[in-house]
Amino acid sequence: MNGNRKTILITGASSGIGRATAEYLSHHGFSVYGGVRDEKDFQELVNVPNVSPIYLDVTIEKTIQDAFHHIKEQNTELYGLVNNAGIARAGPLMDLPIQDLREQFEVNLFGIHRVTKSFFPLLKKSKGRIIMISSDSGFFATPFFGPYCASKFALEGYSDSLRRELLLCDMKLVLIQPGRVATPIWDKGKELLKREIQSIFTPYAKKLGEYAIEKGKSEGLNPKEVSRVIYKALTKKNPKLRYLIAPSTLKYRLIKILPERWVDKLVSKEFKEIEENL
Ligand SMILES: NC(=O)c1ccc[n+]([C@@H]2O[C@H](COP(=O)([O-])OP(=O)(O)OC[C@H]3O[C@@H](n4cnc5c(N)ncnc54)[C@H](OP(=O)(O)O)[C@@H]3O)[C@@H](O)[C@H]2O)c1
Repeated sequence: MNGNRKTILITGASSGIGRATAEYLSHHGFSVYGGVRDEKDFQELVNVPNVSPIYLDVTIEKTIQDAFHHIKEQNTELYGLVNNAGIARAGPLMDLPIQDLREQFEVNLFGIHRVTKSFFPLLKKSKGRIIMISSDSGFFATPFFGPYCASKFALEGYSDSLRRELLLCDMKLVLIQPGRVATPIWDKGKELLKREIQSIFTPYAKKLGEYAIEKGKSEGLNPKEVSRVIYKALTKKNPKLRYLIAPSTLKYRLIKILPERWVDKLVSKEFKEIEENL
């Protein structure tokens, strides 16, 4: 890794926000270790200047330990960890196999804990920064995205506790809350719509799922917009505790101030509209 550049580890750097951030940070003065899970993605990242691919599956302890020893042996100071790797499981909660909920938390929460705990000694030494990629789903829970929302709400709580603990180490932790971003995560969601289970929730879940995928792909932000904010979170002397990233934050501000029952009424209205068009 290049001598004067600060070094950052990004999990899930094969696509979407992780990939864009690896490229953005490496173009803006950082050296980056980009976590990948397969050979094809490894080879792609090899070609990006100042990015070193590293095998890292956040659910497999051995890959995390191997990555840790590899980085430690390079004698590079690790300044930042971007916990970006994530998956989105969805579907009506009452139709959901417990296994889906487990998989969701294995990556989006337990995976983050495994990686953060393992790399903590290096980050503590550099008084570095931890960036958590949360979501608008970390404070607003939408119907039929229960597993994903639950994992991001959990991440918000985990991060608030950790940030306060890290005050003792003079380290900073920043939560990033993107709204819709146009990444491959939306295509991966299509499979979920093909589920066999039929219930009273199915037509509503299908409609809202299709709508979300369509909107995510067509109106989602460019992942580079998120990368810019991650850069800010890593470089500003006093970064904000949370960065909400969306073209307009009005909807979110309303959600936060409206009584929750009113928000439920809006959801109910949406269900009625779906019913009328079934
Ligand atoms: N897209 C959005 O609208 C949006 C909005 C808010 C927040 N986010 C969050 O942003 C983060 C990145 O998502 P994205 O939208 O960029 O999606 P993406 O393109 O699907 O990227 C997800 C990344 O996570 C990796 N990953 C998945 N499981 C992993 C595991 N077990 N171990 C290590 N890496 C794993 C994937 O690697 P493989 O290629 O090997 O599967 C991929 O590199 C996620 O935390 C997501 O929740 C996304």
